[in-house]
Amino acid sequence: MSDTEHLDLQSVLDDIYAAVEPRRGEGKVADYIPQLARIDPKSFGMAIVTVNGKVFSVGDAAVPFSIQSISKVFTLTLALGKHGERLWKRVGREPSGSAFNSIVQLEHEGGKPRNPFINAGAITISDLILAGHTPREVIGEILRFMRMLADDEDISIDPQVAKSEAATGFRNAALANFMRSFGKLDHPVEHVLGVYFHHCAIAMTCVQLARAGLFLANNGQQPGTGHSIVSRQRARRINALMLTCGHYDGSGDFAYHVGLPGKSGVGGGIMAVAPGKAAVAVWSPGLNENGNSQLGSVALEMLANRTGWSVF
Ligand code: DON
Repeated sequence: MSDTEHLDLQSVLDDIYAAVEPRRGEGKVADYIPQLARIDPKSFGMAIVTVNGKVFSVGDAAVPFSIQSISKVFTLTLALGKHGERLWKRVGREPSGSAFNSIVQLEHEGGKPRNPFINAGAITISDLILAGHTPREVIGEILRFMRMLADDEDISIDPQVAKSEAATGFRNAALANFMRSFGKLDHPVEHVLGVYFHHCAIAMTCVQLARAGLFLANNGQQPGTGHSIVSRQRARRINALMLTCGHYDGSGDFAYHVGLPGKSGVGGGIMAVAPGKAAVAVWSPGLNENGNSQLGSVALEMLANRTGWSVF
């Protein structure tokens, strides 16, 4: 018997749902990407998929939402597959202590981003995945990877969100051009940003996202198929990066309260990994001051308290 089986995870989720119900709508929905501002702030969904393949969910767990920066975990995984540990010559592995879209460290640090999850780092990762291919090919590759991981073909990119972001992504364009000025991007800025904006615009449900992250909870292997997505060591390392950098300047706070590797997105999603046990996804669009889902963080803290899944 696995150590998740003594837990009644459905009643844990039901209790969390009841507890957050009066607080639905808290936080501020991201509006700097105009298409995201249209989302109902009261949406709330949560799903747990255990390494034994059991699925538990509550609320809007089957409603697709914009995964935004959560996609950076998966593009990092792909880039590590293509470049191996050489990747770290281009991107650091330290928390930035700055906002996700900050430009300040780049000048002092020669155009090398602090980590792969801040925007500058993820833009560099898009450059690395391009590796001489066209943006269209690479976007298709990322989408196929997500579908394979979630074991679900019904995952797509929301073209309105990608367009909305491209039309207003002046800060990301500045980051990319700044890095290019240091000779740190190999491909044209428009190609790199095209890949970046499209992977951020992938829409997935909580259930799909928890399924997609399950390999990180299972030593790099997809439990259903037995496919090895990454090595045990690489899964551990990706989890370490999520724990230290996955919530930007709120990573310490998330580790303190939740104690699980996790990655947030400004669409209001968080994917969290309980190694050896389960992957979890939560969605609530209202964000806190660091751009992380406010109620999503609260819900994950409750989950960690009830299950004892904190890694500490
Ligand atoms: O580049 C951006 O601003 C967005 N596509 C992604 C930012 C994001 O999700 C930050 N996470 N909390």
